[in-house]
Amino acid sequence: MNICVIGCGAVGTTIARAVEAVPDIDVVYLTDRSKECATRLQEKMTKVRYVPDIVPILTDIALVVEAASQEAARYYLPLALSAGVDILVMSVGVFQDDEFQTDAFRLAKRKGARVYMPSGAIGGVDALSAASLEDIQEVTLTTTKPPSAFEMNPYLESKGIAASSLRERTEVFFGTAREAVKHFPQNINVAATISLAGIGFERTKIRIVCDPQVATNEHHLKAKGTFGELDVVTRNVPSPRNPKTSFLAALSAISAIKKITGVVWVGV
Ligand SMILES: NC(=O)c1ccc[n+]([C@@H]2O[C@H](COP(=O)([O-])OP(=O)(O)OC[C@H]3O[C@@H](n4cnc5c(N)ncnc54)[C@H](O)[C@@H]3O)[C@@H](O)[C@H]2O)c1
Repeated sequence: MNICVIGCGAVGTTIARAVEAVPDIDVVYLTDRSKECATRLQEKMTKVRYVPDIVPILTDIALVVEAASQEAARYYLPLALSAGVDILVMSVGVFQDDEFQTDAFRLAKRKGARVYMPSGAIGGVDALSAASLEDIQEVTLTTTKPPSAFEMNPYLESKGIAASSLRERTEVFFGTAREAVKHFPQNINVAATISLAGIGFERTKIRIVCDPQVATNEHHLKAKGTFGELDVVTRNVPSPRNPKTSFLAALSAISAIKKITGVVWVGV
């Protein structure tokens, strides 16, 4: 089976390296708006082939893996689904746009293609998804990251908050998951994932904390409902290539690809 990875950043590179060792995958087509980054990765890998455009190879692949940006997800998701090709989306925040979400899911149904969203950088998505079959009263996520994860964030700049000058643990945002995803598009994809798994973008509440004392990206997920209570803390090692991204996010994508290409799924 052949796949195509969009993006050769922290997540895309880790995926491309890992699937070299997956026997069920023959070719990994790779595209990125930076040709240099993609060709450099191609030189180091045996299965990777750089393509400037994915349209000509859509008939040759079984899965597109978006690991680039919300903008890329907006472009590549309809392209893949229209061709009947499944897509695994890392930039899950794109689905906070209700119109895009409805159109995407309708298109998938019409074309018989699937949209996969891995659990990404957070634990507990499987339990939340099962719990949502009955009533859930509340879902709250508290995400704590070091200042380096908030560099060049326009929302914080508009509030006059310079993350790098914070000397103590500071709450920089509290609100709905929809607002969180809009204001922190590169930081809080997990807010979108738990919204989709649980009670939606309006009822899911997000607290974002900047803490100069921490070295991990921490996600503390709490939920209460008919099922009981969920209280899950994930302390992630940030990716050395991109401090906004947790290493676990790339691992979850690789794990998802192995499930999709394999025959046994644990924890679906
Ligand atoms: N679901 C999760 O839990 C989770 C966790 C971490 C990261 N993410 C998301 O995954 C995506 C990738 O993360 P990353 O850390 O690898 O990012 P990164 O910035 O390290 O790399 C992104 C790469 O994609 C390329 N790119 C961006 N937009 C593109 C476009 N429109 N067309 C072609 N190439 C494009 C960039 O040139 C870059 O090489 C981001 O959107 C990030 O927010 C999701």
